[in-house]
Amino acid sequence: MRITIIGTGYVGLVTGVCMADNGNDVVAHDIDARKVEALQSGQVPIYEPGLSDLLRANLQAGRIRFIADSDEAIRHGQVIFLTIGTPSNPDGSADVTTLEAVVRQLAGAVQEPKILVIKSTVPVGTCDQLQRRVNELSQHPVTVISNPEFLKEGSALDDFLRPDRVIIGSEDAAAGDAIRRLYLPFVRSAKPILMMSRRAAEMSKYAANAYLAARISFINEVAGLCEVLDVDIDEVRSGIGSDSRIGHHFLYPSPGYGGSCFPKDVQALADTARRHGAPADLIEAVHRVNQRQQGRLFEKIVARFGTDLAGRRFAIWGVTFKAKTDDIRESPALRLIDSLLAAGAQVAAHDPEGLENLQKRYGERVTYQADSYAALSGADALVIVTEWNRFRSPDFGQMKSFLKAPLIFDGRNLYDLSQMQAAGFEYHSIGRRSVIPAGSVP
Ligand SMILES: NC(=O)c1ccc[n+]([C@@H]2O[C@H](COP(=O)([O-])OP(=O)(O)OC[C@H]3O[C@@H](n4cnc5c(N)ncnc54)[C@H](O)[C@@H]3O)[C@@H](O)[C@H]2O)c1
Repeated sequence: MRITIIGTGYVGLVTGVCMADNGNDVVAHDIDARKVEALQSGQVPIYEPGLSDLLRANLQAGRIRFIADSDEAIRHGQVIFLTIGTPSNPDGSADVTTLEAVVRQLAGAVQEPKILVIKSTVPVGTCDQLQRRVNELSQHPVTVISNPEFLKEGSALDDFLRPDRVIIGSEDAAAGDAIRRLYLPFVRSAKPILMMSRRAAEMSKYAANAYLAARISFINEVAGLCEVLDVDIDEVRSGIGSDSRIGHHFLYPSPGYGGSCFPKDVQALADTARRHGAPADLIEAVHRVNQRQQGRLFEKIVARFGTDLAGRRFAIWGVTFKAKTDDIRESPALRLIDSLLAAGAQVAAHDPEGLENLQKRYGERVTYQADSYAALSGADALVIVTEWNRFRSPDFGQMKSFLKAPLIFDGRNLYDLSQMQAAGFEYHSIGRRSVIPAGSVP
């Protein structure tokens, strides 16, 4: 199948490379000409495990190419995937203006029937509107399909190659079936391809993200309760997660969810509800709880050091919104760094993949350390924000020798309380009692 991808970010690049790897003839286009050039030469501008190797193999085999000419890209594909961003407007609604502009251009440029697959996350009814628009503007039939994406950054290739399910929202049986056949090679382990209306497909994506975000806000709220009731959240987590109706996924206490999806999608769903006069108290609360939780580590630091942090230095391990990505969008680390800098503190940040993006945002206001131990040098405390594997079993002796005092604020509960006690650290985590060694000033 001739496939075009428009927008080669996390979703578009993974979609393009995986479709090419299955033998499709893929052309990928992005408005960012430098990105197009880099990708065509085999350089992947994002960090996603396994993606570079798969891209290079498919470039060499000639199954994928990246081009800057949007009209040529539109002409190429029998199927065109739109995978451009749909960020939040200031009122929380999803900004689909770029998407609409691309669809207008596309409608004017097509020279044969096309299937237009909307993979970007868009509010319910967007695909219906886009269908009406192309019907007005295009000389040739363009059938709009909703095909929301569920990949997770950090395991995006695996998620795309072996999805739990594929959702195809279509009002046209033949076009829907063509897209279903495109996905058949990815669901050979009998995972379902769910055919539904376009609106149901759009809604499924928002409902899935809002539900997962709700689990995170729920466990974080329970963690806050555990702190005041002297209960260990990790014991409670096992206690509830082992119920097969509940399960363990997305029930980890944290400094709140971040990334380019949950924060914006929860707000966009709440906005949709408001516009239609439907109650969405729970969804609104999921967002509010997360806002509060993103400030939790800073609250603990202030409780320990006071509000004036001038002259204090904090090392931060992990700035990406989750492990195994370089994506810092809406990361809780950003809220924390902003608060620390505003309170007069110095910040030394370490992250295996996210420092380049962090530097674009903070420039010289933050110190960047490629080495995790060097970041601790002269710091009053370490703050752990992201759960990278390499932070799980560090050399505590070495950490102590670099830190001014053995003090850790852990937003991911990476260490056992008894382990911290034995190692002589003052240790504050989420939803658990603090470890305060004799002689330190809590
Ligand atoms: N990132 C994820 O984990 C994820 C998962 C599921 C769904 N989604 C959804 O998929 C969509 C894309 O997300 P993403 O994270 O890949 O975004 P992204 O920001 O990483 O990538 C978007 C790309 O689109 C390009 N672009 C913007 N305007 C363009 C235009 N006019 N023409 C061509 N290219 C253009 C940008 O340069 C960028 O490379 C969003 O709606 C998002 O909510 C994302």
